[in-house]
Amino acid sequence: MGLLSEGITEVIAVTQDNAAPMGIIVKPGMSPRMVLFKGSKTVANILEYGWVTANFVSDCYLYPQYAFSDVAPDDLADVFVGGIMMQRLVSADAWMAFRTTVLHETDKTCYIDLLPVASEYVREEPHPINRGFNSVIDATVHATRYVYTKDDHLRNLIEYHLGIVAKCGGPREREAEILLREICGL
Ligand SMILES: Cc1cc2nc3c(=O)[nH]c(=O)nc-3n(C[C@H](O)[C@H](O)[C@H](O)COP(=O)(O)O)c2cc1C
Repeated sequence: MGLLSEGITEVIAVTQDNAAPMGIIVKPGMSPRMVLFKGSKTVANILEYGWVTANFVSDCYLYPQYAFSDVAPDDLADVFVGGIMMQRLVSADAWMAFRTTVLHETDKTCYIDLLPVASEYVREEPHPINRGFNSVIDATVHATRYVYTKDDHLRNLIEYHLGIVAKCGGPREREAEILLREICGL
């Protein structure tokens, strides 16, 4: 699968005029999938347009930014792939484009099958492991639920991960921490 490995890969999913962090699930012998909670722009766009691009980024700030804010038009570039015009993030290190099919729906979720139609490595730079980077991603996952529930357990998880960001992260991770603290009121 090239850019996607077995397990869940956290990418910035771009759909028509929108960007948001999403997981892509890969299991042996199965095509890649997404499980999308209803109510997001991403799921609405996939149902309407039938495509998504997975954008691989090395700037951790983009995860909280696109989880909680709209994408600026200049942050997106058109790509003609799979017979249709799609969009990708200008800042992606690499991207994959998919046609989408709805496999199954429940009251709360849509299971989406992904058919790869194109991919590109834009920049081939090593991405050294940094616990601060990874903790920004984890804190953002919890924050997307915390803003609705204000649940104490989630707040503790966010604080734990922001502690790692403060200890191990660089300047960009600390900017992401400030953004997450603002969003969560912490
Ligand atoms: C790393 C990460 C992974 C996420 N994965 C998913 C996912 O697989 N499915 C989902 O429905 N939401 C997921 N979310 C939550 C969405 O990003 C969040 O609901 C977002 O606000 C949706 O934005 P949209 O309305 O612009 O689509 C994830 C969030 C993060 C930070």
